[in-house]
Amino acid sequence: MGREAELARLTALLDRAWRRQGALVVVEGEAGVGKTRLVRELNDQVRRQGGKVLTGSCYEGERLPYGPFVEAFRPLLADQAGDDPLFNGLEAELQPLLPGLESSAELPALEPDQARLRLFDATSRLLARLSNRQPLLLVLDDLHWIDDASLELLGYLVRNSQGHPILICGTVRQEERDEQHPLTRLIWALSRQHLVERIELAPLPPQATGDLLAALLGCPRHRRRWPGRSFSMPRGTPSLSKRWSGCWPRRAASNVRMAAGG
Ligand SMILES: Nc1ncnc2c1ncn2[C@@H]1O[C@H](COP(=O)(O)OP(=O)(O)O)[C@@H](O)[C@H]1O
Ligand SMILES: [Mg+2]
Repeated sequence: MGREAELARLTALLDRAWRRQGALVVVEGEAGVGKTRLVRELNDQVRRQGGKVLTGSCYEGERLPYGPFVEAFRPLLADQAGDDPLFNGLEAELQPLLPGLESSAELPALEPDQARLRLFDATSRLLARLSNRQPLLLVLDDLHWIDDASLELLGYLVRNSQGHPILICGTVRQEERDEQHPLTRLIWALSRQHLVERIELAPLPPQATGDLLAALLGCPRHRRRWPGRSFSMPRGTPSLSKRWSGCWPRRAASNVRMAAGG
């Protein structure tokens, strides 16, 4: 709701990616502004079009190597039929990302950099195979918390997804990404290669926010008195009730607090 222009832009980038000219799309904005929600709309669209969606999240304080990729790829194991050739020949290489994948092969020991390259290449081939079956959307949520290993893999995958129907989309909390952030360096490097697109989410304008809250509360339009401020959903922010308690019926304000997790 109220994000039609941003969704249209995402859809256009998806179409372009599925014509094999993908990029990393970064959806950026402050906490609670609706990044995850917008990308969820894109997921639904992809599924309706017969595409495949894989989603992994980065978590605050949990910088486990390849964490978001492990999460994104885990459902592939459950999907796997007995003689599915999806992983054929990649089982040993993919162990760090798919620890449940059975493999009898022994990999030759390599220097760490080369072992990493072997893993990155196997991952890139896995994505290419998946996208040969169904166009692919890989979503990485809350990229500002990404671990270093995943960040390197992300750069590799974006560069090597060219020529395949793959879109990689990440959400980023603006206030967590300054110039020193490693993600900023990756975005700069990819933008020099024209491999990154940014979609900045501003807080919803007052009218759209009013409609959103009215829908959330089941509050009839004529009961609303609107204070005329822009607003992003402040998850867990107690100031919400102060801001709104004068404008909304008491029960409605408490519903908003609950919906916002405050
Ligand atoms: N345009 C919108 N329409 C409906 N609900 C929205 C919209 N934007 C945000 N929300 C709701 O606001 C809350 C916060 O949005 P979320 O997408 O989780 O924010 P972010 O990912 O930017 O932190 C969620 O409950 C979400 O469903
Ligand atoms: Mg989010």
